[in-house]
Amino acid sequence: MENSSSGPHASGAYRQSVARSESEPGRFWLDAAGGIEWDTPPTVALDDTEAPLYRWFPDGVMNTCFNALDRHVLAGRGETAALIYDSPVVGKKKSYSYATLLDKVARFAGVLADAGVVKGDRVVIYMPMMPQAVTAMLACARLGAVHSVVFGGFAAKELAARLDDAQPKVIVTASGGIEPSRVVEYLPTIVDALALSTGSVATVIVKNRTEVPGSAAEFSFPGTQWWDWDERSPFAAPHPPVGVAATDPLYILYTSGTTGAPKGVVRDNGGHAVAMAWSMENIYDIHPGDVMWTASDVGWVVGHSYIVYGPLIAGATTVLYEGKPVGTPDAGAFWRVVSEHRVKVLFTAPTALRAIRKADPHATLAEKYDLGCLDALFLAGERLDPDTWTWATALLEKPVVDHWWQTETGWAICASPRGLEKLPLRAGSPSFPVPGFQVGIVDEHGTPLPHLAEGNIVIKLPLPPGTLATLWNGDERYVATYLSAFPGYYLTGDSGYFDREGYLYVMGRTDDIINVAGHRLSTGSMEQVLSQHPAVAECAVIGVHDEIKGQKPVGYVVLKHGVTIAEEQLAAELVAMMREQIGAVAAFRDAVVIQALPKTRSGKILRKTMRQIVNGEDYVVPPTIDDPAAIDIIAATVASAAV
Ligand code: COA
Ligand code: AMP
Repeated sequence: MENSSSGPHASGAYRQSVARSESEPGRFWLDAAGGIEWDTPPTVALDDTEAPLYRWFPDGVMNTCFNALDRHVLAGRGETAALIYDSPVVGKKKSYSYATLLDKVARFAGVLADAGVVKGDRVVIYMPMMPQAVTAMLACARLGAVHSVVFGGFAAKELAARLDDAQPKVIVTASGGIEPSRVVEYLPTIVDALALSTGSVATVIVKNRTEVPGSAAEFSFPGTQWWDWDERSPFAAPHPPVGVAATDPLYILYTSGTTGAPKGVVRDNGGHAVAMAWSMENIYDIHPGDVMWTASDVGWVVGHSYIVYGPLIAGATTVLYEGKPVGTPDAGAFWRVVSEHRVKVLFTAPTALRAIRKADPHATLAEKYDLGCLDALFLAGERLDPDTWTWATALLEKPVVDHWWQTETGWAICASPRGLEKLPLRAGSPSFPVPGFQVGIVDEHGTPLPHLAEGNIVIKLPLPPGTLATLWNGDERYVATYLSAFPGYYLTGDSGYFDREGYLYVMGRTDDIINVAGHRLSTGSMEQVLSQHPAVAECAVIGVHDEIKGQKPVGYVVLKHGVTIAEEQLAAELVAMMREQIGAVAAFRDAVVIQALPKTRSGKILRKTMRQIVNGEDYVVPPTIDDPAAIDIIAATVASAAV
């Protein structure tokens, strides 16, 4: 088994690659740029004239969709499977060859062009895990348009916030998604979001699903035309790929910030395609014809990078799974998909494994399937606890590779890059910095910390290709949020430490972001929702440890003076508000009424201390506390809940 106590050797491929990426970064990344096809190959790697905003491959011209589809067909691999759709929720399985997918994408690009979409226009995609979501993303890329995929679990208000920021010309959607407990109708949400939004959307294109009611013909909104995907697609002229500058945006993906307003991470075309190609080969060891299955959702960065772009740019086969790890129909679903589609690399979130383990602790359902095709299991999205790592390693007898990254970086900051070198793995650690990412640990003054000392994890600028170029409409916000705390470094917002052999340990966030079932959420925006309730004077939302989801949000609320309301009724109203304003994905189910929140004398809520108390961790009462009794109130609330 790949588990020993030593780190990488200086003469090994990993250290050699890191050394070259640091000593001659320009040459390193121009060589990597050879992994994709260019209309005009770049002669310059990095433009740093507007540092700390950097641009990769400034004189390169290419098209991302061409690299994901056309070039494989032109290379004679048109009949290779590009995408396998496997949906236990609708009982469908279908394989699409590269030639078929190219035809569908080129036609849908024609539909978008008929709707007036041209290079640089934004298109919001709000779809469940169906092949048309991938088609729509690639069609945007083909036109040089900028897609912004919004996860289906977000409610109208969150969708409207994204419409306001991205100002899309078109929304592409479906009649709805299927969750195990219910059918989720998307079209009423679209109408509500249009009503809440300040922008104007010219066209909504709807893919009708027989399983979910609702169609383009049944909905309307002033100033917006509604088109039926199936009526338009057959008649649209296939659109050729449009060459774009490497630095032009490919997509905007919104992620939780520390304020209520989501941040639109901007990904460029050229750097992204190069990073995808490099990572498929060197991190995942996936090559043309191999099958990769990323069990996530196209609404998240993991889905963008490793359901859609990475595998297709590599000429591999990607699996699009519309289902859950448990309950569709059972905890053997993942093993069935791996075995049936001969998956070489499975990538999912630790929470999915914990859910499988809870339902099937001894993995007896895995025994039914031949998992010999599986080379490695990659995990990311949240901390992989050593217990789950050990369980999965023993079950699969395969490398279980934790790797750490963020929406902002688009690909792994730290990993065990198996395509380069099969390095020993350690429980609890996502291993080592990937070439191109120079990772450091600093204290609050920016002073580097020694091995084993926990601090802020930072990355030296410039970040490598494929990472965020900026925030949409927000160069200043990008610099203020990420680049100002420690000049010359990108602030990850995570805290952690290196051990003596150079393994990184990522321990948690330093801000108010929490991770619920691998979904990143802002407690700040949840507090904004709770504080709108007429009975609530003030509140704090804290991430509490959860056995399956890693964390769950719990709201602590103080009532306005003189207000009387039954706690159960208040909790139910708050839960309903959260579902309506953020969405079911927030998984907000607990609200607790308390007499006071602990605060500093300047009025700042001591969220960190609250977090430590509710999670049963050691804590020190800060000397700046206003009323120490408030700490006792929280501690007593937690103690009574535990009884
Ligand atoms: N559209 C609409 N609603 C959605 C949704 C979507 N795409 N995805 C989730 N939801 C809803 C669920 O139906 C649920 O609603 P409910 O409160 O009415 O039951 C709510 O959001 C919470 O969903 P979820 O977080 O998925 O919890 P769960 O208890 O239904 O399932 C797991 C738990 C662990 C099985 C599930 O979270 C999971 O599969 N996690 C993997 C996460 C993942 O892949 N993350 C990607 C990051 S790499
Ligand atoms: P997201 O942007 O949704 O991908 O969430 C990114 C955040 O998830 C990171 O900043 C971390 O806090 C957390 N995260 C992702 N992967 C890991 C990992 N392998 N180990 C620990 N935390 C992780």
